[in-house]
Amino acid sequence: MIACHCREVDDRTVRAAVLAGAGGIDDLAAGCGAGTECGGCHRTLERLLREHRLPCEDGVPAVA
Ligand code: FES
Repeated sequence: MIACHCREVDDRTVRAAVLAGAGGIDDLAAGCGAGTECGGCHRTLERLLREHRLPCEDGVPAVA
């Protein structure tokens, strides 16, 4: 599934970025370019961030 049409970034790329430590849209933008143009994908990116974020303790996300 394409998550960001402007930059042609798919959900698998977003998932990989989250597992590599991306914690928000700014991190995704810096890492893979998602969300850097029209912003129409931000809700989708936020949903993917929530879905793929690993459980954390003490507010510090775990990194795979
Ligand atoms: S669809 Fe992602 S920035 Fe436009």
